[in-house]
Amino acid sequence: MSKIFKLGVVGDPIEHSLSPFIHSRFSRQTNINIEYLPFKVAHDDFLNFINDFFKDGAARGLNITLPHKKQASVIDGTISKEARYINAVNTIVKDDKKIFLYSTDGDGFLNDVKHKGFLLNEKRVLIIGAGAAAESILYKVAHSKTKKITLFNRTEEKAEKLSRKYSQFSSIDSFISQEHEYDIVINASSAGLTGKFSPINELITSENAIYYDLNYSLAETPFCKWAKENSRNVYDGAGMLVNQAAHSYKMWFGVLPDIDPVLKDIEAMRE
Ligand code: ATR
Repeated sequence: MSKIFKLGVVGDPIEHSLSPFIHSRFSRQTNINIEYLPFKVAHDDFLNFINDFFKDGAARGLNITLPHKKQASVIDGTISKEARYINAVNTIVKDDKKIFLYSTDGDGFLNDVKHKGFLLNEKRVLIIGAGAAAESILYKVAHSKTKKITLFNRTEEKAEKLSRKYSQFSSIDSFISQEHEYDIVINASSAGLTGKFSPINELITSENAIYYDLNYSLAETPFCKWAKENSRNVYDGAGMLVNQAAHSYKMWFGVLPDIDPVLKDIEAMRE
């Protein structure tokens, strides 16, 4: 029998994670034997858990999800330039006894954007939120030759701080302009999941504006519900979720799996 590679996703909560499902589909597609498990781990136990997991010779890697992505960036290992800059890690790879740390969220987002056929360059992009999720995509958006990026956050100072950090790459401000129309509106806040989502009434968007929620749930997210009142081009985070998983899989096994059949499976779960 061929070798079984041990993998998993670490978070808290973890019960509703779709990652085990997604990676089992990738495994079947690529004929690579994996055991991919969800691990619920508390903040204080996180670093010990990582240490113990990789003592197993069959351990190949882990995905890291909320609330551990920041803490994962201090794990002893070689960290990618992007993961170091955003201080967040969602993929750990063990190769020849060495540990490598990456963030595949930004690539997952960009690939999904491409897949959906819209471009970021020359666009006015509004990002709602200024936490870890916002920063994971801001790194890529700020390197995408947009016309202007606006970061809008409930706590204004956090948006201002993040804007300053990324202003070396792109033109960024932290207040909503009523002089210009936004082409792309991205919800990177957890509003709606951890509290009430408040619609942004002062927002002016272009005719074919794209609304994109980084959050995903089988039921419609509050952001998507609001966005549908304004546009036909509304997406939630399912595409990004499957794409970031595909990039993690590539880090572990060198092959980029086909995302389309997996997205179809996820769509079918909503019906
Ligand atoms: P994540 O890793 O999901 O980004 P985070 O770093 O805690 O988590 O950031 C959550 C983001 O969602 C923050 O921008 C937060 O706004 P604050 O900086 O003001 O806390 C935003 N957020 C969470 N609940 C919200 C709500 N009910 N309304 C508006 N913004 C909210």
